[in-house]
Amino acid sequence: MGLVSANDDHQLLSKIATNDGHGENCAYFDGWKAYDNDPFHPIENRNGVIQMGLSENQLSFDLIEDWIRKNPNASICTTEGANAFKDIANFQDYHGLPEFRNAVAKFMGRVRGGRVSFDPNRIVMSGGATGANELLMFCLANPGDAFLIPTPYYPAYDRDLRWRTGVQLLPIICKSSNNFKITIEALEEAYNKAAEANIKVKGLIISNPSNPLGTILDMETLKSLVTFINKRNIHLVCNEIYSSTIFKPPSFISISEIIQHLECNSDLIHIVYSLSKDMGFPGFRVGIVYSYNDAVVNCGRKMSSFGLVSSQTQHLLALMLSDDDFVGRFLRESSKRIGNRHKHFTMGLEEVEIGCLPGNAGLFCWMDLRSLLKEPTFEDEMALWHVIIKEVKLNVSPGSSFHCVEPGWFRVCFANMDDATVEVALRRIQTFVTRTKKGEALLKYKPWQKKLQLSFSSQTYDDGLMSPHMLSPHSSIPHSPLL
Ligand SMILES: Cc1ncc(COP(=O)(O)O)c(C=O)c1O
Repeated sequence: MGLVSANDDHQLLSKIATNDGHGENCAYFDGWKAYDNDPFHPIENRNGVIQMGLSENQLSFDLIEDWIRKNPNASICTTEGANAFKDIANFQDYHGLPEFRNAVAKFMGRVRGGRVSFDPNRIVMSGGATGANELLMFCLANPGDAFLIPTPYYPAYDRDLRWRTGVQLLPIICKSSNNFKITIEALEEAYNKAAEANIKVKGLIISNPSNPLGTILDMETLKSLVTFINKRNIHLVCNEIYSSTIFKPPSFISISEIIQHLECNSDLIHIVYSLSKDMGFPGFRVGIVYSYNDAVVNCGRKMSSFGLVSSQTQHLLALMLSDDDFVGRFLRESSKRIGNRHKHFTMGLEEVEIGCLPGNAGLFCWMDLRSLLKEPTFEDEMALWHVIIKEVKLNVSPGSSFHCVEPGWFRVCFANMDDATVEVALRRIQTFVTRTKKGEALLKYKPWQKKLQLSFSSQTYDDGLMSPHMLSPHSSIPHSPLL
């Protein structure tokens, strides 16, 4: 009893439970596993893997913590806030607390520079942007229908948009020759290919700002996308979860601004939002669908029963996001800190002549390691990636896991760690690149070989790096009272 073989599983469980549609068997998630097995710690495991595959915004937590300390009434777990406990614990309405919807709508307007306003009655809750993306697919497409998506794209879309919905994703090929911009020609080509294959295209989904590129879409491109979908009467889903990570001009243009001035059927336009990136709250699972289509709002609200935001979280955020002074200060400071980190990191790469795609948003950069490939193939990209993970001990994510059509690009996250860890990571990359270019570190890895062979040890990457003076105020190392 209890011993079930994989074959039996296929009969016992559903097709969804046993298929591979979650897409978690790709390099992107393998890198996370490598980190989990050997995580870097500045004292206890200084040769461990540094996690640079996680797009988290940890740079401004001190501001949030400060606000929480000053506003104990925002929590139902404090003496000041306990009076609200009964009402909040009891609340279960899938419309959400009115004060939460009002605060989120106002926050979304603020992030977009006040150039556009959002109706709280159109805010539908979901479990993060992950839930919001899937919810929209359930509302807009039938199994077998397709959405067009520009490459490279966020790897977990394969799970979030396709796995349980049965929706297909059809790539729009973008290339480095024009900085991976979406062209109308590429869009038409993807659409026509689908038509030839008799696949029904229900829409186009974009991430603006882009994960993994760290770029934003310009006005002309946005207008051309709206014109395209309007002409074909298909949907446009805009994932804007990185909208306040912009750290230098030009400023972000939301799809909500475009449709104010361009004639189009707004029933086709839907925004996905979340507080996971802009505020750095992925654990709160606050996702939003903002649709201009009444039927989608109504249906989405009913579906949101499967992924509501806890009323305790709504209560806290309603107060935090309606504190205008705090929000203004947070948004300014957060984007300044992301910008400083980006500059520091990309300048460190430039020292060893490694470039990144020019970008002005996001919590990562799109690093160009094409010069380190022996041949421009995905096999060589994987070989290089294995060396970076296993020997250099950095979990960066290879472009192929983002469906990039050109080998040699890697996404590197830089906002999920403290200053001292960034220094260690930079030094490791610099040493690796220098030695590789000198031919000292030969990439001998072949996918079919179990053991990687390098001519030097990763031990040397960190030599002399972690002297106490390098620890930042955010370092996880406890400061000795004697120092
Ligand atoms: C483009 C994109 N969409 C969705 C998500 C998931 O966000 P959430 O944590 O809000 O579910 C991410 C997270 O990395 C993302 O980059």
